[in-house]
Amino acid sequence: MVADYVKQPKLAEATGGKMFILNSSNPVPLYKQLYNQIREQILSGKLAADARLPSVRDMAIELSVSRNTVDGAYQELCAEGYIYSSPRSGYFVSALDQDTAAQSPSAKPCKDDYLPGPPSNFVYDFHPARLDPESFPTELWRKCFIEGLRRNSRQLVQYGDPQGDWGLRCSIQGYLERSRGVICAPDQIIICAGLQQSLDIVSNILKESHSIVAIENPGYHLPRSVFQNNSYSIFPLPIGPGGIDLNLLKASNSTIAYVTPSHQLPLGCVMPVANRLALIEWAESGCRYIIEDDYDSELRYHGKPIPSLQGLHPTGNIIYSGTFSKLLSPALRLSYMVLPYSLLAPYRQLYRDYFPSVSLLEQRTMATFMEHGHWERHIRRMRMIYKKKHDILLRSIETHFGKQAVLIGQGAGLHVVLILPDTLQSEAEIIDRARQKSIRLFPFSEFHVAGQPEATTLLLGFGGMTGSEIEQGIAILSQLC
Ligand SMILES: Cc1ncc(COP(=O)(O)O)c(C=O)c1O
Repeated sequence: MVADYVKQPKLAEATGGKMFILNSSNPVPLYKQLYNQIREQILSGKLAADARLPSVRDMAIELSVSRNTVDGAYQELCAEGYIYSSPRSGYFVSALDQDTAAQSPSAKPCKDDYLPGPPSNFVYDFHPARLDPESFPTELWRKCFIEGLRRNSRQLVQYGDPQGDWGLRCSIQGYLERSRGVICAPDQIIICAGLQQSLDIVSNILKESHSIVAIENPGYHLPRSVFQNNSYSIFPLPIGPGGIDLNLLKASNSTIAYVTPSHQLPLGCVMPVANRLALIEWAESGCRYIIEDDYDSELRYHGKPIPSLQGLHPTGNIIYSGTFSKLLSPALRLSYMVLPYSLLAPYRQLYRDYFPSVSLLEQRTMATFMEHGHWERHIRRMRMIYKKKHDILLRSIETHFGKQAVLIGQGAGLHVVLILPDTLQSEAEIIDRARQKSIRLFPFSEFHVAGQPEATTLLLGFGGMTGSEIEQGIAILSQLC
């Protein structure tokens, strides 16, 4: 239903003749559209200081929306200081410096279909970091956000714990123990704004006594610059069927190993328990550290997720890192890491003058989302959605590539790897030809810090595509390789 609303006389009177138009087919939530429009009228001076807004009830009736929608918009405006509430009198417009407000970019005409970031121009986007566009639980998130606002308004006038909200840390601890076999206490958990921030902190803590980090090759490309910016040397370790080459690691001077043991990025292999124990032994025998990046292990489509490496030796030198980016949203910038007790004191010493880097409101929203059981339900839902896409991708590859391609890394995560042993074309040529057909491919070569695969290899992310886009994209791609 498209329920455009044009103001009624009573509402127009209360808002100085201004009208609000909400469009339910717009992807921007209704409360946000209302928030944007009221905010724009306040910033442009059309709603004068101390003007009274219609009550939540009246506004909801006039706009034919729920009270929650209006309440959501008012709460957000209130939290940001655009309006204020007066007990038993209602909501009023705050007095703003109109000169400054008029210069604010937000004072431009409100375009409520605005979505941040350039839209992808590709019809078939195989980028591995894309999630299902319909999957964000907007309505539940909004409810948890509002609940968080209501329950925590007193905390919002303070900076909060630099290590992260205690309630969120407790929820993460319970989840990690139940689902990932990670054994830790909430005081070992640090809430971060993504893996790179976690690695930056770890690099900083360890740089007095460590200078060489072993990384997987091929491996996730983004941590490299974090280590290098902290003056570490990088030691690439080849990946075999059981993960990193442990003999080479032992022979190297590396004293930190950054690994993705439960789902190696990009090849998808799982480090067997014997290798995990050998890696732990390597760390224990020389005051060395393992950084375990457990970024998407919930997404395993057959059998149970592989338990964490940290759980094999919870008191060892293992730094465990997890994220909400792969199942919920990479835009939230919400992740966590578990430090071994031995690193907590140096962490607190180094970071005692830092403020938290993740908004308390987002942290409280996530905590509420977890407390109500939404997070674990969301994971189950996502696993079903992505399994369907994964199966379609595998079938399409079988149909269109047949024996031309060798598939690896299937059965988990949001991408697979396709080796093309017989093609004469390079990766760059295929990516270029694909681009001309509106297909986006992320270069597999980006994951290599040294050397390149013998045969042309493609990385196919499927999270952001629909089933039919996957089928058509693979059919077209097979003609180009
Ligand atoms: C190997 C790996 N680790 C971690 C992440 C998540 O990073 P962040 O928490 O910074 O979004 C990703 C995202 O794609 C990844 O591929």
